[in-house]
Amino acid sequence: MRVDIITVLPELLDGPFSASILKRAQEKGLAEIHIHNLRDYSTQKQKSVDDYAFGGGAGMVMTMEPIDNCISALKANRDYDEIIYMTPDGEELDQGMSNNLSLKGNLMILCGHYKGIDERAREAYITKEISIGSYVLSGGELAAAVLTDSIIRLLPGVLNDETSALSDSYQDNLLAPPVYTRPAEYKGMKVPAILISGDLKKIELWRHEKSLERTKTRRPDLYKKYSE
Ligand code: ADE
Repeated sequence: MRVDIITVLPELLDGPFSASILKRAQEKGLAEIHIHNLRDYSTQKQKSVDDYAFGGGAGMVMTMEPIDNCISALKANRDYDEIIYMTPDGEELDQGMSNNLSLKGNLMILCGHYKGIDERAREAYITKEISIGSYVLSGGELAAAVLTDSIIRLLPGVLNDETSALSDSYQDNLLAPPVYTRPAEYKGMKVPAILISGDLKKIELWRHEKSLERTKTRRPDLYKKYSE
């Protein structure tokens, strides 16, 4: 999979992609992540990428020209399955959306800033608008990093244990059960006996029950979907 991310703050994206699972996915050749500085596509003096909003009001708006130049340049080299705009008024990201996007080949992600991008750019180029939650971030970069991480960890071969993404919370509309590791007793706090019983069938049942319990109390909305 290839992900092209367009941003006015490329340095914000250095960290998330250069450590741990996302780093390994790139080293293994399973994912390519390319960061593009939108300012490089501005023909304005001082490489400006924003301007005042027509009609007045506080806050700047990202202009058409650099966005058009950058997206057109990228599209000239390959076809994109989706051109995504990260925005708080987009469709809310969930596991199902990440699962679907992990099946694609080429994704482009545009990070918004200021008051957002000129509406005409959304209409002309964007195929999908995604929010990572009902709160407003300073820009789309952290949201793009969250989205990219949630997709790339699902690619076959990225996680060491192939089954571990399948047992994540949300994969079946259930939250994951609690987990424990050694020692079996720490300062008087004991691991549930069933987990050290060696009875794999019983352990599986116990985990499922705990998942149900946890989902029912913490996410009744998800539990409703699960039981439908
Ligand atoms: N940009 C600013 N806030 C955001 C959010 N919640 N999701 C996606 N992009 C954003």
